[in-house]
Amino acid sequence: MKDNAKNPVLQQDEGKILVHQDNDGEIPLDTELAKEIRQLAKEQNAVILAHYYVTGDVQDVADYIGDSFGLSKTASTLDCDKIVFCGVKFMGESAKLLSPNKQVLMPAPDADCPMAHMVTREIIDKCRAEYDDLAVVCYVNSNADMKALSDVCVTSSNALKIVSKLPQKNILFIPDRHLGHYISEQLPEKNFILNPGFCPIHEAISLDEVKELEEEHPNAKVLMHPECPEWILTEADYIGSTSGIIKEAVEGDAEEYIICTVVGVKHQILKETEGSGKRFYFPKVTPVCPNMRKVTLEKVRDVLKNGTNEVPMPSDDIADKARESLAKMLELAK
Ligand code: 13P
Ligand code: SF4
Repeated sequence: MKDNAKNPVLQQDEGKILVHQDNDGEIPLDTELAKEIRQLAKEQNAVILAHYYVTGDVQDVADYIGDSFGLSKTASTLDCDKIVFCGVKFMGESAKLLSPNKQVLMPAPDADCPMAHMVTREIIDKCRAEYDDLAVVCYVNSNADMKALSDVCVTSSNALKIVSKLPQKNILFIPDRHLGHYISEQLPEKNFILNPGFCPIHEAISLDEVKELEEEHPNAKVLMHPECPEWILTEADYIGSTSGIIKEAVEGDAEEYIICTVVGVKHQILKETEGSGKRFYFPKVTPVCPNMRKVTLEKVRDVLKNGTNEVPMPSDDIADKARESLAKMLELAK
C-alpha cells in the first residue's frame, strides 16, 4: 500500500468518452492507405469507430475514438449507412444490437475478448434460484447471450453510477471479478456475488513491476484501470476507465504518470499533451491487447472495399433481451 494511499474512488463519466475527428477536413492523413480508407468511408456513408486500445494508425483514420461506453452510445445515434468497428467482437455486436438497421463491419472478426467467455448461463441461473432480490449486472465485455440473461449492462465508466441506482440489494456482477470487486468496495450496502472472470492483460500487471516504477519515478501519479486486480489497485492515485485515465493524464497537474492499462491509450495522451513536457511510463512488460492489435489499416480498407465481415444480428430472442440490457445502461447512465 502506498504511504500516501488516497483510496481513490472510481470516477464516473469522467473523461471525454469520445473524441470526434474531422477526418475529411483538417486532420492530415499522411499515408495513401489512410487516404483511401477515408475516401471509401465517404463514398459509402460509413462511420469508423475505434477503441483507445487499437493501434495509433487505426485510431487516426477513425471518425470517433472512444471508450466502451462512448462508442456504444455513439453507435446508437449515428446517422450513416455503415459502421466500421475497430475493436473486439463484443463491441461490434453491441453496435449491431443498438443500430439494427445499419451494416456493422468488423475489420478483424477474429478479435475476441477472452473475458467475454468467462461466464456461463449456469452461474446466472444458480444465483437467480438462490436470491429473490437480485440484479444481474453485465459488464459490456460479454457476449450477447449473457447480456440477454442480465438485467442491465455497464461499462467501467458508468458501473458505479448504474449499480448504485439499482433497487436490488444482491448484485451478481459478471464477467469481471476485478471491476465487480472494485465497485463492491464503493457500495458496502449491497451484497455482491462475483464471477471468476478477468482481463488477462490487466491481471498480468504485477505489483513488483508497479512498485519498481514508483521507486524509479517517486513523483509520478499512478493511474489504473479498474480491470486491474485489487492487489495492485492499492498503488493507484486515480482509478478510471480509458477515457478517465486519458483525461487525468492530460489535465492533471503532475509532470509524470505511471499508467496501468493497455498501452493504446498513449496515442491520444501524447497527442493531447504535445509540448507539455509531461512524461508517461507503462509497465515494462508492456500491456498490449493482442486482439485489439488484430485490427490493421489494411483490414479496415478491405472491409470497406469488399463489404465483408458483417456482424450478424443474434437470433430475435437473444437480440431483444440483450438490447434491453444495453438500452437500460444508456438510460441509467444519464
Ligand atoms: P473502457 O473503454 O470502458 O475503459 O474498457 C476497457 C476495455 O477493456 C475494453 O475492452
Ligand atoms: Fe478484453 Fe482485456 Fe483486451 Fe479489453 S484489454 S478487450 S478486457 S482482453
